Amino acid sequence: MSQQPVAIRWENEELILLDQTQLPLTTVFEKQESVEQVWDSIKKLKVRGAPAIGVAGAYGLVISIQNQQKEPVETVLSLLTKNADYLNGSRPTAVNLSWALNRMLDKAKSQEWATTQELYSALVKEAELIHEEDRYLCQKIGEFGKTLIQNDMGVLTHCNAGALATGGIGTALATMYLAHEAGVKFRVYADETRPLLQGSRLTAWELQQAGIDVTLICDNMAAQMMSQGLIDVVVVGTDRVVANGDVANKIGTLGVAILAKHFNIPFYVACPSSTIDLSIPTGTDIPIEERGADEVTSFGQRRTAPPDIAVRAPAFDVTPHHLVKGLITEKGIVEAPYEENLKKLFT
Ligand code: MRU
Repeated sequence: MSQQPVAIRWENEELILLDQTQLPLTTVFEKQESVEQVWDSIKKLKVRGAPAIGVAGAYGLVISIQNQQKEPVETVLSLLTKNADYLNGSRPTAVNLSWALNRMLDKAKSQEWATTQELYSALVKEAELIHEEDRYLCQKIGEFGKTLIQNDMGVLTHCNAGALATGGIGTALATMYLAHEAGVKFRVYADETRPLLQGSRLTAWELQQAGIDVTLICDNMAAQMMSQGLIDVVVVGTDRVVANGDVANKIGTLGVAILAKHFNIPFYVACPSSTIDLSIPTGTDIPIEERGADEVTSFGQRRTAPPDIAVRAPAFDVTPHHLVKGLITEKGIVEAPYEENLKKLFT
């Protein structure tokens, strides 16, 4: 089995993040010294991908009280609530962040702690557990999803839902890693994923390192690839799947799903239970992050738009459930009717 990159490390009570903004040219790990630094790393996409920001958020909350262990339990409990709220404000769309932070707060409030050190140790364990569970979710998704990839297939993916985006081997890319490991011969087409190029900088890099046959295309080339019969299946990740099965994912995913429908290509979404939000009925209520105009008005360091141009920069879009052939979860591949089937499996 090839080695996948590790985005998040927790070693000797230190949180170390791979700075993904510098990939694929430079591999730099950054020790996180404060909750403000963790917030900034999430905001700037040094750590990114729904499951990874959940794991980083959980450790970030631990970091936020690391130097407060001499304070009374009550003081630290209210600090935790404040810091969870602060971290949660870094990025709104991926539900994994609030899911992980709420789980940490639930743990903090689950019993009377004799000392603050005891509370701190319990939170370290909970964050490690969230991290460990994410590895398991990725593995199971890979095992179920690999069956969709067969010899000679072309697989299209958008953005990066790989090891870099999770605590494990990825979600969408886990299906490819395990199919490859099983000896299946297939080719992946990776959308470059404008504006921040997670597809070319991260997915193409990850898959190439693993020895998987990967071809990079610009986002606007997907239709041409499909029309030539080169794509047999689409597998993407997600930032939030809601009760009716609507899927938020990286901007451009909706276009890919519409194209897939047109060309009669099955469109699958790899989705761990930590990304499922049954509290929201439909995709219209998912908060969509709007990012800075500079991400659209430049390409790398070079400005590529006139001064004072009006810009929109939604980071995500919502694919309606009727375009989704199946959700690859750790409990199996869920198909329509989503509302009924998600409720049955995940409540
Ligand atoms: O803005 P990003 O890079 O955090 O967006 C990531 C995605 O959209 C991924 O597809 C999604 O988080 C799933 S990662 C397993």
